[in-house]
Amino acid sequence: MSLPSIDTLDIQPGDPVYVRVDFNVPLDDGNVSDDTRIRAALPTIQALRDRQASLVLASHLGRPKGKRNPRLSLEPVAARLAELLDADIVFVPDVVGDNVEQLIRDLPPGGIMVTENLRFHPGEKSGETEFSNALSRLARIYVNDAFGAMHRAHASISGLPPLMEQTAIGLLVQRELDALGRLLESPPRPMVGILGGAKVSDKIGVIDSLAQRCDTLLIGGAMAYTFLKARGVAVGSSLVEEDKLLLATRVLERCAEKNVEVLLPTDHVVAQEIKEDAEARETDTIEDGWMGLDIGPQTRARYIEAIKTASGVFWNGPMGVFEMAPFSKGTRAIAEAVAANEGYTVVGGGDSAAAMRKFDLHEKVGHVSTGGGASLEFLEGKELPGLKAIRGRR
Ligand code: 3PG
Repeated sequence: MSLPSIDTLDIQPGDPVYVRVDFNVPLDDGNVSDDTRIRAALPTIQALRDRQASLVLASHLGRPKGKRNPRLSLEPVAARLAELLDADIVFVPDVVGDNVEQLIRDLPPGGIMVTENLRFHPGEKSGETEFSNALSRLARIYVNDAFGAMHRAHASISGLPPLMEQTAIGLLVQRELDALGRLLESPPRPMVGILGGAKVSDKIGVIDSLAQRCDTLLIGGAMAYTFLKARGVAVGSSLVEEDKLLLATRVLERCAEKNVEVLLPTDHVVAQEIKEDAEARETDTIEDGWMGLDIGPQTRARYIEAIKTASGVFWNGPMGVFEMAPFSKGTRAIAEAVAANEGYTVVGGGDSAAAMRKFDLHEKVGHVSTGGGASLEFLEGKELPGLKAIRGRR
């Protein structure tokens, strides 16, 4: 069932609209070091301003555990937004209450306010009704454009929509649902799924879901070593989830039953320590005392070939410790191959999105999701609490 878009909202000039965004961005020395998520919310902000709404933008930042923490203030984020929009922005150091309500009444049509980090209030994470009620006093109209936080059953995500007169999803959420939804509903064939990252346990639901939609799965990153060990391959001191070996075997069996080809690394970049200046070697056998920290050249070539011939590609999770130069070649090779594919290409958020940006390839793929956990839960087929709360109102 489709969800109401912002076009369906009845907005009169000066009406306050509460927009839940995901401005959970990295900060470095009090400055925003990656503004991708702020930029991603601009189309919705601009569309609502064009309709003369008064915008109240709210987000979480980090995990302050219900307490005020000046290092996780949204003030620098508000400053970056003001630069991007070339507009004045009112920053309020509160989340709810009389002061916020008064400042909203003072906002001109098209004006923008950013409230403080929602998670400074303990009621946000616990989804407390009293806190949702306090939020609902700020506006009658609610827009959720926080795709990255849609999987959290928090007050501003799932508690607030039932209390509002009108609700809608924002343009970013719409874009995410279109791109990721296509993978669930009508993936082009042949479809290749690329999965990396540290833990098999984090990706099990997604692997099962992709196994129904992909022809080939390419596995890399530390989780590849759990799969390799489950197949009886020597992995030296590589990171292995010993308690997930049986699970890894079952996953491989399920893929085989569905005729999904699973490619695992056949050679590796190994080192004895995870350090930028560690001695790194390329090898196809991992000896004791050495750990696999990236896929090797033969594996890169096999994976690139599989990606080249695909009509659709979904990628989540790096192939190695790409933040360090000696272990970055695998992730770079995958990023370049995905960017070169002219079919339907989607990169799940988190580390693989960061890799696309690091290699300056993010504009060369069909869609880079702003959601980490949210995009994975969506692809597992779970109903995200934020979407459910809006859908439930119809
Ligand atoms: C994210 O960065 O994935 C989202 O902003 C959600 O943040 P959280 O994992 O702290 O809930």
